[in-house]
Amino acid sequence: MELFIDPDDERSLTRQLYEQIRAAILSGQLGPGDRLMPSRAVAAELGIARSTVTDVYGSLAAEGYIEGRAGGGTVVSDEHGPCPQTPPPGALAPTPCSAALRRYDDDPQGQARFDLRPGRIDAQLFPAAIWRRCVLAGLGRAWAQYGEPAGSADLRAALARWLTGSRGITLVPEQIVVTAGTGHAIDLVARVLLSPGDVAGVEEPGYPPVRELLRSQGIKAVGVPVDGHGIVVDAIPADARLVYVTPSHQYPLGGVLSGQRRLQLLRWAGRHGAAIVEDDYDSEFRHTARPLEPLHRLDRDGRVIYVGSFSKILSPALRMGFLVAPMALVPALATVRQAIDWCPPLGTQEALTIFINEGHLGRHLRRMRAAYTPRFHCVHRELLDRLPAGYRPLPAQAGLHLAVTGPRSAAQADVCQNLLPHGVLIGSLRRTYQVPGSVAGFLVGFGALPTEQVAAAIDALATGLTALTGR
Ligand SMILES: Cc1ncc(COP(=O)(O)O)c(C=O)c1O
Repeated sequence: MELFIDPDDERSLTRQLYEQIRAAILSGQLGPGDRLMPSRAVAAELGIARSTVTDVYGSLAAEGYIEGRAGGGTVVSDEHGPCPQTPPPGALAPTPCSAALRRYDDDPQGQARFDLRPGRIDAQLFPAAIWRRCVLAGLGRAWAQYGEPAGSADLRAALARWLTGSRGITLVPEQIVVTAGTGHAIDLVARVLLSPGDVAGVEEPGYPPVRELLRSQGIKAVGVPVDGHGIVVDAIPADARLVYVTPSHQYPLGGVLSGQRRLQLLRWAGRHGAAIVEDDYDSEFRHTARPLEPLHRLDRDGRVIYVGSFSKILSPALRMGFLVAPMALVPALATVRQAIDWCPPLGTQEALTIFINEGHLGRHLRRMRAAYTPRFHCVHRELLDRLPAGYRPLPAQAGLHLAVTGPRSAAQADVCQNLLPHGVLIGSLRRTYQVPGSVAGFLVGFGALPTEQVAAAIDALATGLTALTGR
């Protein structure tokens, strides 16, 4: 540890040293068994008499903080673990706007046998050996530089080919900005298109992190109801400058934005001069019908910003995603990105480029679909068969979770917390609403649930619900 001597300090040198070492032991900065620098070395480094240091070590030893070791040296004694300390609150406080924000993964907390929260994926499916090879291969490339803020030309080209092949999107690589996931993409878009005080339309219920993100920028995120066909276009506020939608798999209810609504939404945006952010998460996991055309493909006048993520199809830990924007926005998006964190991590970009170009992404997706689609059907069937009366899974065709609605009883408010003792962690449906009212229900994620455990997990869920509702 670094020791300091202040010649202007009123305290003696001995006292200054003693208090620094004692504080380091009590705070845990020096732990039991950690070796102290020899007194001669400390004296030489600080330019003080060695006897000053030996006096300090003597006092600390007498009080049991340190001890001599057989064979020489002085170490922190075993009895002196750190005292639990509360850091001082400090003089600074977040603004009321940021203090009012709420983390999404804050409920319910705890350990459970079955983790059925949405947003989880199957860690066993991650192609670890292949990814390791791609990372190693990428290490050989240029390292002594910052990269292009919008992402490397190679990765943008690979993503453009991928999007054209998988989603039929017509684009040039220069329209792509590589991001650290969906939230980051929307953050960039909002910074470039909106000002504090502007209105944005978000689905109600919807994806809470995007809502909170917009609010953190001082934007009014107004909830727009969702029905069986997706967002209700007629209910979008006329002054909305941007509308955020999840057309392939509405989060959290699971519906698909109908073809007619897609066209209506595009027409609305054209009439009101607004932007549409199309979050195409989960479009890769269609379990039944064929996917509909992305809004981006139907867009004739450049109003749609398409956002994609590798969190579900590869790993949320990579923090990799992208957006596809009209060309006119890309320079501003790249400049804002540079101002924030300059560029996407070069190593991950290189690895992902190799992963896509060598065809691993396509193969990996086929393997994921082969695992998740039977699991989706199995969970859906078990829910239909096992849930107590009053509970019903909503129709769904895609994704890695299902929404369940339930009876509007008082117990519903805490259903997630109350199922914990039954060994089940589920997602809250109420939390996805800005104004939950009497909403009752929950989300069942199956990404991290091995297919062979589906029956046991839904059984535990059904048993817990029956106990809660007394049916
Ligand atoms: C609606 C929605 N969009 C996007 C994502 C992916 O977010 P990110 O790319 O920030 O990990 C998720 C993850 O669960 C999601 O639910």
